[in-house]
Amino acid sequence: MARRRGLLLALLYTAIACAAAPHAGPHRAGLPDDALQGGRRHLAAGTRCPPVSRDVLAARAQNNTLMFAMMNEAQWDFGRNWMHHVKKAGISYYLAVAADVPTSEALVAAGEPCVERIDEEADKLGLAWGQEGWRRMTWSKVFFMDSVFFMDSVVDWGFNWVVSDADVVWFRDPTPLFAKYPAADFLFSEDGAGSRNDKGDDGVEHGGSEHSNFNTGVYLLRGGASSAAFIHAWAGAFEKCGKGLNDQTCAYELMRTPDQREELKEERGLWRVWNKRIVIGIIPPSQFLSAHTLHLQRYDQARLVKGVPAYAVHMTWTYKSHPGKRARLRDMGLWVVDPPEFFQGSFVTVDLFGTPELPPHYNEWNENEDMVAFHLAAIHQQLQQAYVGMALAVASNRSFILPQFKCFCDHIWYSVVRCRVVDAQEMPFPVPCPQDYLFDPDRYTDDAGPLPPMHIRPAGFLANERTPAEVKDSVLTLRPSAALTCTDCVQLGKATDGSPVLEVPPSLTDAQLLPLLEPYRRYRVWKLSMDSVGSPQRAFGGFADAAAAANFDGRMERITGEWCCRREEELARYRMEGQQHPKLRMNPQFNYSSMAAARGSTA
Ligand SMILES: *[C@@H]1O[C@H](CO)[C@@H](O)[C@H](O)[C@H]1NC(C)=O
Ligand SMILES: *[C@@H]1O[C@H](CO)[C@@H](O)[C@H](O)[C@H]1NC(C)=O
Ligand SMILES: *[C@@H]1O[C@H](CO)[C@@H](O)[C@H](O)[C@H]1NC(C)=O
Repeated sequence: MARRRGLLLALLYTAIACAAAPHAGPHRAGLPDDALQGGRRHLAAGTRCPPVSRDVLAARAQNNTLMFAMMNEAQWDFGRNWMHHVKKAGISYYLAVAADVPTSEALVAAGEPCVERIDEEADKLGLAWGQEGWRRMTWSKVFFMDSVFFMDSVVDWGFNWVVSDADVVWFRDPTPLFAKYPAADFLFSEDGAGSRNDKGDDGVEHGGSEHSNFNTGVYLLRGGASSAAFIHAWAGAFEKCGKGLNDQTCAYELMRTPDQREELKEERGLWRVWNKRIVIGIIPPSQFLSAHTLHLQRYDQARLVKGVPAYAVHMTWTYKSHPGKRARLRDMGLWVVDPPEFFQGSFVTVDLFGTPELPPHYNEWNENEDMVAFHLAAIHQQLQQAYVGMALAVASNRSFILPQFKCFCDHIWYSVVRCRVVDAQEMPFPVPCPQDYLFDPDRYTDDAGPLPPMHIRPAGFLANERTPAEVKDSVLTLRPSAALTCTDCVQLGKATDGSPVLEVPPSLTDAQLLPLLEPYRRYRVWKLSMDSVGSPQRAFGGFADAAAAANFDGRMERITGEWCCRREEELARYRMEGQQHPKLRMNPQFNYSSMAAARGSTA
């Protein structure tokens, strides 16, 4: 039977009136590192993470430094993904902070180094973006460091902290930054999408000001009286900052005291703020990357663009909430927690055909609407082809591997300038479209009455190292072609590279085509090629059953998002009133429900 140890009750931040639950099992404070990571041995000792104590942290710290992320049950997969990459980067001083009991138990079961800081209130207040529970979660890292234990709090213990959200992927140990900037109390990540530093400059952002927006999802805190005083003030401002303000905005408010700030003469890019009581700097998004600087602007390859190595990428500049972040991490090949079944099964994909080429001077174009119009036409041409492939996937009960869509315009939550984020004006098009630019990944398979689920795999799935060879090596190209003069025969041949190609008659419905494909079911990937028909409509005729067609179109309507956004002041000039953020459509040229209905009425 579990022994209760009231002694372990932590006195937590009083303004939010929450206390850690009593813990089962003996207190493990002070155990050496291998015991904290001891897997099953750890399970036997206790089923939950120990509460925060100076000894537990000291046992885990290296060179007096710790990295932590808060985790909860709803985003446990992000926590696992975070820990995987942290370990892969060789960062051995990390610590998971469990925000609820199931996460605490799961961390212990996984043998992960962890402590508990439970906030039972947040759940009840609603965790959706903008709700009060969500706001509290944004503050949870500040509350953790301000947690009071008897006389002092975590931040008073003098450790250096690398503070990280769980939707961050670490590539490299960031501790050299502490040594590089000995004067800095805080080194924040950048909130914007561009760096003005010269290529090869691996220092703090120089082009900014003390007003430059930073992001509190990733930052370094040097232990000491100044940083501790700021954390106390920051946590203490939770109520004062007012409803709706997250920890980041509140930090801006606190720091931006008029006339009480200055740039350090000896170190450009470091600023004394908060009445000159702390020194802060911003690490540019070439080193603390965002989903935009990495995936769209390719700041990693520049090693290509900026010529400096990256420490981490944080999933900011993504859309559609957590499902969108998961999809983005999959798109970037950084999501490692899909179960083995995700890589098994049978698939359909399409070879995008005839996607418009980039006009020669497109990247110098200045007129927003010229670019928006080009992008929307190009993306709809690609979506219509994916629509045909998705229909074949649903009809044959296979999953659909997204093709790599090309985007010729960015997507943001306010209006674009030259089709780009304001501070990413140099970004060359085309860019690979992230899933969350086009779709709402939460709606691929959600329960929507009779609508069939759409099982999606990311572009790049066939190159993923976890996709087994029996899938990768089992690709059959399906080529609808009028060169076949029959409607009930197929012809197996070989492409020039030796891979198998099956010619099939064009325009067949599922009822006609699937029996012909029956002998080829053993091929795990059917790749639909549309280069031998004049229109994607002739590649596949859709559903013989009108209800199946209507349900499929219902799902298609459901999965797409809106493109965002035209500039409001330009709408009238281009006669685009009401078109500021048009909904994307999978079937702008034709749809299978009207084709099935037409067949029905002539049958
Ligand atoms: C430990 O931290 C100090 C100060 O931040 C730094 O100068 C030193 O290089 C670090 N040592 C190691 C082994 O990382
Ligand atoms: C569809 O595929 C899934 C998984 O591959 C399988 O479990 C299910 O039975 C299939 N349904 C039909 C109707 O074949
Ligand atoms: C299908 O296309 C027809 C004709 O263009 C259109 O009227 C109808 O709204 C479309 N239906 C769906 C579900 O897209």
